[in-house]
This record gives sequence, structure tokens and C-alpha cells, in this order.
Amino acid sequence: MNRFFVDKDISVAQTISTDIYHSEETYKELIEKIFACTWQFAMDDSRLQIKNDCEPFTLLPDSLDETLVLINNEKGMACFSNVCTHRGKILVEHSCNASHLKCKYHGRMFDLDGNVRSMPEFREVKNYPSQKDNLTQLPLFKWEQFLFTNLGSAPDANLFFGDMISRIDWLPLREFIFDESLSRTYEVKANWALYCENYLEGFHIPFVHEGLNKELDFSNYNTEIFFPYSNLQLGLSKSGRDCFDIPAGHPDHGRNISAYYFWIFPNMMFNFYPWGLSVNIVEPVTVSTTRVRFLSYVWDRSKLTAGAGAELDKVELEDEEIVESVQKGVRSRFYNHGRYSVTKETGTHHFHCLLSNYLSK
Ligand code: FES
Ligand SMILES: [Fe+2]
Repeated sequence: MNRFFVDKDISVAQTISTDIYHSEETYKELIEKIFACTWQFAMDDSRLQIKNDCEPFTLLPDSLDETLVLINNEKGMACFSNVCTHRGKILVEHSCNASHLKCKYHGRMFDLDGNVRSMPEFREVKNYPSQKDNLTQLPLFKWEQFLFTNLGSAPDANLFFGDMISRIDWLPLREFIFDESLSRTYEVKANWALYCENYLEGFHIPFVHEGLNKELDFSNYNTEIFFPYSNLQLGLSKSGRDCFDIPAGHPDHGRNISAYYFWIFPNMMFNFYPWGLSVNIVEPVTVSTTRVRFLSYVWDRSKLTAGAGAELDKVELEDEEIVESVQKGVRSRFYNHGRYSVTKETGTHHFHCLLSNYLSK
């Protein structure tokens, strides 16, 4: 039987094996089986506005650690491996606008569609060039300004993002502008999955987040599971203030929503507040350390300081303290599994079921 089995029936299920959080071997397995096989956030398109713009980046430094390059070429945006197919040098070292890519090691040239164009001293080489000499192109999913890629075996992007995109289709995402000064990177001394599973339940809000609890109506806080790969927690305002003004005709019209917390498996969070969007990317660093990037996209600056979306830094530090304590707890010989609240932990259960499925592959 799958060592990471989690029963689909939450009322009988035990939480996933704690090996997830501290076994080095499981950690490595999970990076390949989960992170290499799911959609990952690459960047927004602000540095790819002009034709022929090339932007190198590393997909999940420290875990996948894959060097890639995004190119705005004749056909639109495209994502490629950023490794020269001759002897493996990194091809594009810095952002550039170029008509072609030239490797600085022995001069191999590539077109912006990834095909090899020329190479010195290769006239005698048999069966050259072949398809293998071109740069590997990766899938790219574009949602307004946001770009996502995967290393080649993720299911259709719509299964990950479709429910979120249709739910907030009335928001003018293109008017959400990145604000570096409001963005943060946190280093958390806990496994990435502990960070995610804490995010996935509002059960702890009254116990851990005194300030946030004053804003949110805990009795009406609920989770909607979107099968297979995403879910939503809806934060309703206690006071009826600081909410979205949702247009008539939309299913959420008339509700006092102060936060939409969307989670996309395995490690992406899109938190919409009346002021804009906080994208949270959870990056595994080691089995017991995690980097979390908060990217802030501001829509209405006047609303930054009110409601559930204010004081994000304080809420984050409160969460970190908890998950760092849990990281120590799950190493205990006397704790291997717990149980779920049927009413308050459906999001965490959904996450554990997905981990279980992926690890059994
Ligand atoms: S490694 Fe790029 S040309 Fe040799
Ligand atoms: Fe929290």
C-alpha cells in the first residue's frame, strides 16, 4: 500500500505521513514527482514587452533549479531551456533584446524560436544539425500578465487555473501593477508542505491571528474545493466594510467578500483583496527550510491599509511561528498522523490527497 495513503473520505482519514516533512529521501522524490510535473510561476511579462526581449530565469532555485529563458519572439511568448546544446554552457546570462542568441563558449547561434542557426568548425560533423541540437521548448501558460511553465509533463493548465480565472473574471488584472516596495521574501524554518497546509485552513485564525480575526466572520469562513488542482477560501467581512464591490449578475454579487484566497497545487497562492493581489510562491529550499515570495500587485492604493488584506506582514510572521513549531513537532517518535476537522480542514485534506496521488505514481 502507498506509504502516503490518505483516505478520500475526510471523516475517516488520517493526515498524511510525517515523512513528508522530514525525510530527505521523500523530499527528493517529491521534488521530481510533484514540482517537476506541475505548473510553476515564471514571472509577469513586464520585462518582455518588446519583440525580441529575452529574459533568463531559474525555475525554483534550490529545488528544481532549472535554468530557462523566456523570449518574446515572432510567434509570441515562448519558454526554452537556457543551456547551449553543444557542451552545456548557460546561453543567455542577462536580460537582452537580440535578433539571435550566440553562445559565448564556442559561438553556436540560435534563432529566437530555439532552432540552431550556425556553428563554427562543425562542417565535418555527421547528422548535424538534428532536432536534438535545438533548444528544448517548454509549455507556457499565459494568464493576463502572468506567465507559468512546466518541465514538460503537467496536465492541462485549465485544470489548475480555470476555476480561479472564471471566478474573478470581472477584475481588471491588467490594471494591477507590481509594487516592489510592498513585496517581501520570507525564509521559513519549516518544510514547504507545512507552510501550504497551514495556509489551506482558516481553522487556526481565531487562535493565531487576533487582528485578522477581528476583520473576518469566522462562522461564515468557508472553503470551496475545485477538483482536481485548486481550491478557494472565502473571507467574509465581519463589519460589512472593506469588501469588494462585485458587479450585479456575478454569483458573488451582494456578498461581503473581503478576501479571495485561491490556492493552486502544489505551491501557488493568489490572494485577492480590495487593494489588489498578493501572489505567494512557496519555494522549497531544503527538506526543512522554505522561501516564500510575496509579490504585491496594487489596483487601488487607497484600500491598502484596511480589511483582511492589511497587515499581511504581521499575519505572515504569526503563521511562521506556528509552522516552525510544527516542524519540530512532526519529528517526534510519538506523532505520525492526526485527524481532520470535517468542517474546517477540507483544504488541507485536499492538499494531502493530491500529495498522496502524486507520490504513489
Ligand atoms: S557550449 Fe555553446 S558553443 Fe560550445
Ligand atoms: Fe494563518
